[in-house]
Amino acid sequence: MRIDKFLTEMGICSRTEAAKAARIGGIAVDGKVVKKSDIHIDPNVNKITFLGREINYKKYTYIMLNKPDGYISATDDPREKTVLELLDDRHRRLGLFPCGRLDKNTLGLLILTNDGELCHKLLSPKHHVAKVYYFHSERMITDDDKKRLEAGVNLDGELTKPAKLELCDDKMSGRLTLTEGKFHQVKRMLEAVCNKITYLERVEFAGIPLDSSLERGQWRELTEAEENILKASGNPSAEK
Ligand code: URA
Repeated sequence: MRIDKFLTEMGICSRTEAAKAARIGGIAVDGKVVKKSDIHIDPNVNKITFLGREINYKKYTYIMLNKPDGYISATDDPREKTVLELLDDRHRRLGLFPCGRLDKNTLGLLILTNDGELCHKLLSPKHHVAKVYYFHSERMITDDDKKRLEAGVNLDGELTKPAKLELCDDKMSGRLTLTEGKFHQVKRMLEAVCNKITYLERVEFAGIPLDSSLERGQWRELTEAEENILKASGNPSAEK
């Protein structure tokens, strides 16, 4: 891979900036300054430094964002604020996109990545990836409502897949675990039992809980252990 392509893919700089940095001796390969940015390197083997900083190669990036209210789950939009705007410049250059959607007023765990294949698998209805939502409802949820929500309610002529509902003592809040992701699913499920969501936060996705130390709007890259959980959720048969 060309060194300028590597630096661009890692979100470090543009190709023009790489060429400029090379000319002033700002790029080194295995400790040796290189004056041209079109030389070929093996990012898995060579140690690359850019302006004195070592650049580690990662084919894909996985980010956990604690989504705040008022942002849409999109990469760009002419009118609305997007979750991409919450990232720093380097990460914005990596071609990341949200893996699934949360509504503008839904809070909590959103995974951003540039690994399209894994994202596709995680969202595929075939894989039944679990998503856990913490919610508040307008009215109390009765035992009968709970049974219906868990067994499946009719949305667009189809029953929702079996879900798990853990109610808090007030019966107006709780955790709902779903293994599918229909449009506005939680809100519409509550409407199907004549209730209404007043607060919605995703607290877990594909076996990864939201890091409680992240404030709303904050994000971090997934740890290696979390990345492995995500990959295993997207490739369930590979584990067996
Ligand atoms: N269900 C909803 O209704 N909204 C979301 O944002 C996520 C799940």
